Amino acid sequence: MKAIEFDRYGSPEVLQIVEREIPEPAPGEIRIRIHATAVNSGDWRVRGASPFLVRLFFGLFRPKKSARVLGSVLSGTVDKAGEGVQGFSVGDRVFGMSDLAMGCYAQYICLPESAPIVKGTEIISHEEAASIPFGLHTAHHFLKKVDLQPGMKVLVIGASGAVGSAAVQLARNAKCHVTAVTSGKNADLVKSLGANEVLNYETESLAEVLQKYDVILETVGRTDVKTLRTLLKQGGDLVLISAGMKDMFLAGIRSAFWKLKIHTGVAAVSRQDMEYFRKIIESGDYSPVLEKTYNMGEVVQAHEHAEKGHKRGNLALRMMEA
Ligand SMILES: NC(=O)c1ccc[n+]([C@@H]2O[C@H](COP(=O)([O-])OP(=O)(O)OC[C@H]3O[C@@H](n4cnc5c(N)ncnc54)[C@H](OP(=O)(O)O)[C@@H]3O)[C@@H](O)[C@H]2O)c1
Repeated sequence: MKAIEFDRYGSPEVLQIVEREIPEPAPGEIRIRIHATAVNSGDWRVRGASPFLVRLFFGLFRPKKSARVLGSVLSGTVDKAGEGVQGFSVGDRVFGMSDLAMGCYAQYICLPESAPIVKGTEIISHEEAASIPFGLHTAHHFLKKVDLQPGMKVLVIGASGAVGSAAVQLARNAKCHVTAVTSGKNADLVKSLGANEVLNYETESLAEVLQKYDVILETVGRTDVKTLRTLLKQGGDLVLISAGMKDMFLAGIRSAFWKLKIHTGVAAVSRQDMEYFRKIIESGDYSPVLEKTYNMGEVVQAHEHAEKGHKRGNLALRMMEA
């Protein structure tokens, strides 16, 4: 099989297509033939060791052998079931996440059947299915910490990205009043996802906004936390998805002194979450936002595109024809 590997941190050119043995599923594992994965912010952050903290998890000087194939999301077909597997059969269409174990930039992967992988749906393509879990699980993880109620005012900063476009849709589903911060070119996109108001960051400064919000979801990391605090109602929720170490460290102290709730950390995903995602896709309550599909041989260009920080939703990476 073909896989995309990197053996040193650096620019997108460190990604190389290599030939590897097709893995064999251990007892309790399924082998998935991957049709599509996606290029997410998590991938270029690990590839470039940005932030430095990445090295503590994935290898100090070089990526560890177990971390050399990036990719945390997939859509594909079960190709072989290990001994004792009960929930999946060969031929099942599936989508989901390998999460921090990564390994989805490959044509085959073996995962425990308990992994956050669920049966897929025919109503979206493999490319769309692979583009959903990263942003949606992140937005879902953090919004679960917030008791969203109908009519609440929610501000989503970075509303056109993978996480932001998911957050806008989840807040819309909860019947909140959503204000989306994005560039002018993406105003129509975020409105189509359910934003009630759009703030164009190219022409309007958040520091001059007079509104107060119940919830702020920050996914860009360019607005000072002290500015965000002034936009929040007392006791409101400040969700810092792209927080650096300092803001993570200070979250508890600031929450207490500022009388608000600051949420940071790393998003986790479960099998139940993935079941819920399939349900809202099938019911039409969630739409994938897929800007472009790249072929495996274009992975360098896909990483260059993602790393600019201006993608519209998601970028799929096709690993093989369905
Ligand atoms: N904590 C966690 O567990 C976790 C999980 C996933 C992601 N993250 C982090 O969350 C961040 C967002 O991830 P993502 O995958 O959604 O990124 P993404 O898909 O690359 O989206 C970034 C978005 O930010 C917008 N943007 C850029 N500059 C902006 C500005 N000044 N004001 C408002 N919007 C701006 C861009 O829209 P325009 O083109 O309109 O500028 C783009 O759509 C990343 O830093 C990532 O590392 C954290």
